Amino acid sequence: MQKRVLVIGGGGGGIGRATTDAFGNEGAAVMVADLDPHRAAEAADAVRAAGGTAYPIAGDVRSASGIEAMVAGAVEQLGGLDVLVTVVGGQVAFVPAVKLHEMTDEDWDTIYEVNLRYVVRAVQAALRVFLDQGTGGAIVSVGSVTGFMAAPEQAAYGVMKAGLLSLARTVAAEYARDGIRMNVAAAGAIATAVANANVDAEVVEEIPAGRFGRSEEVARAVVYLASDAASYVTGQQLVLDGGVSVRGPFG
Ligand SMILES: NC(=O)c1ccc[n+]([C@@H]2O[C@H](COP(=O)([O-])OP(=O)(O)OC[C@H]3O[C@@H](n4cnc5c(N)ncnc54)[C@H](O)[C@@H]3O)[C@@H](O)[C@H]2O)c1
Repeated sequence: MQKRVLVIGGGGGGIGRATTDAFGNEGAAVMVADLDPHRAAEAADAVRAAGGTAYPIAGDVRSASGIEAMVAGAVEQLGGLDVLVTVVGGQVAFVPAVKLHEMTDEDWDTIYEVNLRYVVRAVQAALRVFLDQGTGGAIVSVGSVTGFMAAPEQAAYGVMKAGLLSLARTVAAEYARDGIRMNVAAAGAIATAVANANVDAEVVEEIPAGRFGRSEEVARAVVYLASDAASYVTGQQLVLDGGVSVRGPFG
């Protein structure tokens, strides 16, 4: 059966858009949710132009009603929901990078809102739909190596990305028998507008693969984790980092 997929942040120029395209190429029906209505519409148009099925929805993940509307909109337009993907996130795109002792409460809360708070709400809403349908479901959140490797001046981001994996473990423990899975696709340095603007080119030297990753490489992992090929995989993190997190200090 054609999977019915909601991609939150699916209009984005980086991993979001690549994820939308990848699901479209797989023949899924995609609901593209994004803060930017033009991006959402463009991404949905591109899937349709390639012969697929997609609809845009504009909304802000920072509001509970925004998340409810995205999930309800997907269920209505797609006739149900099989897959939830959460892409929205980041630190440098949202607040200034500062050391921990300088970070304001306000900035910490912003990073919480756009990386973890909304994911909890979206997961809860999707779980209710999945349980109601009785046909299982898959959830994939785009995480980061910063969730398990410290990045200076990105304390809040790391804490929130670590929280995604904790959430996935809980979903695994509580809902595996309902056929519901949740996993994290944890990205390293990916060549997107945000990463390119903020990561020094010398970083490439530290990456065993010798290059940044591509958004499509993350998107393919997201599609795999959402697919039936990953039917026994839940509560896990799949790391897409070109070897960064496994390289020791010598040599
Ligand atoms: N780029 C990297 O190197 C990198 C590395 C590791 C992890 N990640 C993660 O990948 C994900 C995507 O990052 P990206 O840089 O590819 O972004 P992206 O280009 O996919 O854009 C994300 C989209 O989120 C939307 N968005 C922002 N705020 C929103 C809000 N409040 N409500 C609804 N939509 C909103 C934006 O409009 C944008 O279209 C993030 O979770 C990020 O933490 C990125």
